[in-house]
Amino acid sequence: MMIMMTRLFLLTSLMLVISGISAAENRTAIEIVKKRCSLCHGIDGEASSTIYPRLAGQNAAYVTKQLGDFKSGRRQGTMNEMAADLTPDEMVALGEYFSAKPTLTHRVRNKDFSAVGYYLYHNGNSYSDVPACESCHGVDGNGTTKLPRLAGQHKRYLMAQLLDFNTRKRTNDNAVMHSVASKLTELEINALALYISGM
Ligand code: HEC
Ligand code: HEC
Repeated sequence: MMIMMTRLFLLTSLMLVISGISAAENRTAIEIVKKRCSLCHGIDGEASSTIYPRLAGQNAAYVTKQLGDFKSGRRQGTMNEMAADLTPDEMVALGEYFSAKPTLTHRVRNKDFSAVGYYLYHNGNSYSDVPACESCHGVDGNGTTKLPRLAGQHKRYLMAQLLDFNTRKRTNDNAVMHSVASKLTELEINALALYISGM
């Protein structure tokens, strides 16, 4: 009798565990965004402050990949905690959600300085072996399915990423961007970030 009771108990606990797993269905992107992402990135990916990247119009596959990298710890930062319990399907849904949001841009006031950024973005700097950014991120800064869209991004975030690529603080896939960023001067970083923010 005792054995049967124990068995029954084990069986019911097992069933509870199994039903617990199947009950944990994927949340929809909007549910996750409202609860957890909007505080920093805004409900439509517009970003609540310039220290947070804009996600509106960002390429879906790129967003999904970054979330996976944050979850696995390949990319380090504030986001590790935010991505910790996201399922693969939720990461795909979040990518699709943000990529479908209307893109935004900044008004650039210092035209002369922005022109320096324009030149570098489209031509690179042949004197210091900096490749043209447009060769990977596109003439309009829209990136590709896998490469990030840069156009309209906050200047502050862009500069921070370039510095992090340079010092290898940004640890995911930074071979290419490390070689690019390590050749940029401070003036070039500032001018590029200004121009790109207004694209
Ligand atoms: C407390 C503020 C905060 C919250 C909340 C937050 N993020 Fe972030 N997010 C950041 C910061 C800061 C970065 C820039 C990377 C870094 O420094 O960690 C970032 C970067 C990202 C990136 C990479 C963007 C790029 O261009 O490479 C994605 C994608 C992202 N967040 C998605 C999300 C999603 C989805 C959620 C909700 C589940 C979320 N974030 C919640 C602060 C936040
Ligand atoms: C050979 C291709 C290539 C070139 C040229 C290139 N990039 Fe990148 N860039 C990448 C890749 C790949 C990534 C994404 C890395 C990842 O997946 O985390 C990236 C990411 C970035 C990011 C981070 C975006 C984000 O949302 O976090 C910035 C900023 C950036 N590049 C700026 C530039 C600038 C400015 C130039 C020109 C001076 C440039 N890149 C030239 C390939 C390139």
